[in-house]
Amino acid sequence: MTDTMIDRSGSARLVRRMERGAAFLGSEVAIMAGAMSWVSERNLVAAMSNAGGFGVIACGAMTVDLLDAEIAATKALTDKPFGVNLITMHPDLMALIDVCAKHGVGHVVLAGGLPPKGSLEAIKAGGAKVICFAPTLALAKKLIRSGVDALVIEGMEAGGHIGPVSTSVLAQEMLPEIADMVPVFVAGGIGRGEAIAGYLDMGAAGVQLGTRFVCATESIAHPKFKQAFIRASARDAVASVQIDPRLPVIPVRALKNAGGELFTAKQREVAQSLDEGGVAMAEAQLAIEHYWAGALRRAVIDGDVEHGSVMAGQSVGMVSKEEPLADIIAALMAQAAQALEQRAA
Ligand SMILES: Cc1cc2nc3c(=O)[nH]c(=O)nc-3n(C[C@H](O)[C@H](O)[C@H](O)COP(=O)(O)O)c2cc1C
Repeated sequence: MTDTMIDRSGSARLVRRMERGAAFLGSEVAIMAGAMSWVSERNLVAAMSNAGGFGVIACGAMTVDLLDAEIAATKALTDKPFGVNLITMHPDLMALIDVCAKHGVGHVVLAGGLPPKGSLEAIKAGGAKVICFAPTLALAKKLIRSGVDALVIEGMEAGGHIGPVSTSVLAQEMLPEIADMVPVFVAGGIGRGEAIAGYLDMGAAGVQLGTRFVCATESIAHPKFKQAFIRASARDAVASVQIDPRLPVIPVRALKNAGGELFTAKQREVAQSLDEGGVAMAEAQLAIEHYWAGALRRAVIDGDVEHGSVMAGQSVGMVSKEEPLADIIAALMAQAAQALEQRAA
């Protein structure tokens, strides 16, 4: 193609910048809906993939049988590719990997820590690509050496469990070093397409959003959960505080509510059991994780947004209404295309 034949419109630029990420995912656009426990089930995942993006089932604490049923149900709603997010500390991780292989799931996202021995090999042997979260540059390089196919880098603006560094810093630090080695998807705090265009320009293969998709019409989140998102502003989405230095808890970003106080009380209770020798450290940390899963369910499914955990990222201020997932994707793509058009001018 000669230079004059290259389509220089914003939308053509966007397609070119998303080409690698979309090819990797097998989707039309390189936008992933990050797995959200209780929210990312068959309906949201299928809607995301049907809209041209890439949905990811949140396995969370699901049993092997439940995941089996969820994948089958999702396949009944879409013939487009979607992924499954597995938590590394799940006691049945290897059996969950087998279930993904049985269904021919193309992409497995491993969250919650470094992949346990043998897990990468097992996922690949089952025919799926492996996507991991890279919290630091050194760990990103280590994960690439151990054979992961793609990485997500997620900043502390995100909803749910978070690290200590912002998305903008992670992207600047990591993309120039690793974006040529594997596709890298940037996550955390993305609410509009202009930001997507920015990270693509910096070398990202695509992006992952969570908060922005919670209020999709197809999302089964309780109406009160969605209402809390629509009302909230960025500063309402705060990180949980660790109260006991001996009990390291991964911070969780959620909307401020009475549930935050309950978490403080829970930490005190678990710390006291540690003191009294009632539980070991690993058990204590697991108790905290179970607490979050229960609190999130209470808010997402039961609609108790006062005492449950309304996990949300700082981009929640940009969620203003309930709308079909396809409309959210279309708006993000239009904003990104316009940004690329203007930047090229
Ligand atoms: C309600 C909620 C629940 C989440 N649950 C999970 C989860 O179970 N596993 C996971 O890997 N990430 C989880 N996340 C993180 C998302 O997958 C995604 O990476 C994140 O939302 C992206 O940042 P954003 O919220 O700023 O868009 C959750 C996020 C939210 C808002």
